Amino acid sequence: MSKLGDYDAVRRDIVAQLKKPDYDDGSAGPVFVRLAWHSAGTYDAQSDTGGSNGAGMRYEAEGGDPANAGLQYGRAFLEPVKENHPWITYSDLWTLAGVVAIEEMGGPKVEWKPGRTDLVDDSKVPPRGRLPDAAQGADHLRLIFHRMGFNDQEIVALAGGHNLGRCHGDRSGFQGPWVNNPTRFSNQFFKLLLNLEWEPKTLENGMSQFVHEDPDLADGDDDDEEEPLMMLPTDIALRDDPAFRPWVEKYANDKDLFFDHFAKVFAKLIELGIRRDANDNILNTDNVKGGYVSAPKKSNVATGPSRARL
Ligand code: HEM
Repeated sequence: MSKLGDYDAVRRDIVAQLKKPDYDDGSAGPVFVRLAWHSAGTYDAQSDTGGSNGAGMRYEAEGGDPANAGLQYGRAFLEPVKENHPWITYSDLWTLAGVVAIEEMGGPKVEWKPGRTDLVDDSKVPPRGRLPDAAQGADHLRLIFHRMGFNDQEIVALAGGHNLGRCHGDRSGFQGPWVNNPTRFSNQFFKLLLNLEWEPKTLENGMSQFVHEDPDLADGDDDDEEEPLMMLPTDIALRDDPAFRPWVEKYANDKDLFFDHFAKVFAKLIELGIRRDANDNILNTDNVKGGYVSAPKKSNVATGPSRARL
């Protein structure tokens, strides 16, 4: 058990959880980034509800949302960290794991501040349906991200999160990685989006995505072919929408610019709905009333939704 407030000790334990030789592409990093993003991406600026304060995914109402399928692995990988540092709130732990993972995978340093409080019951869990639907297009992206308070440039920068990780048939129903090295943060996603040919493909489950079949690989009679790279319909919308596209081009051509904008927008994402005083103490009523409330540790076993159960 570390000293209360020793976030460097927590960071070190998160780093120790990243390497997972038997999981996906060998790293828990991408699923940590997605966990942090989904914990925050429920924010609605108008009603000032949702957001990373609260860690509502501990409850079935949010954790069992099909939009969060697969994140149970990320949450379970972080349980040993919670065990070592029981004083940290889940909401701080999940957001911190996202920024630590980004940095450890070669991405920018993202500003992170502590102080979030865990909900004590599910009464304030945001309603389902606030996260983006990858089968849709540019209008939908604007509807979802403007609701959180992001502009077009910020939407494109945030979507650069798809430099990491992959889609899983048993989670979202989509399949495959966006880039060749999905555990290395870079601007490759934007380069590939512009420079490769993307063909629509209907999967066996009836879902449509875009794939790039590498002709050099497809020609061989080797059964061991690499799986094709993929793009979601919402990713292709970034390429084709006249206001999104200039940002895709800028980020493809200038990695430093992308890293700078990504760091800023990710820091903004994980602060949505959180109000602080000049000393960075959180002023949200739950925090003020309850103090820094950290929920008791949950089970180490990953239980949660998958498409098989939908
Ligand atoms: C723009 C709207 C977005 C849509 C429609 C979308 C959709 C998706 C989908 C369908 C998956 C596959 C999930 C699975 O099958 O495991 C995924 C994975 C992922 N997304 Fe997004 N996403 C969006 C924005 C973002 C943002 C803003 C970030 C972070 C900045 C992000 C980071 C990730 C990561 C890291 C993964 C890989 C997770 C893993 O490997 O387990 N996404 N996203």
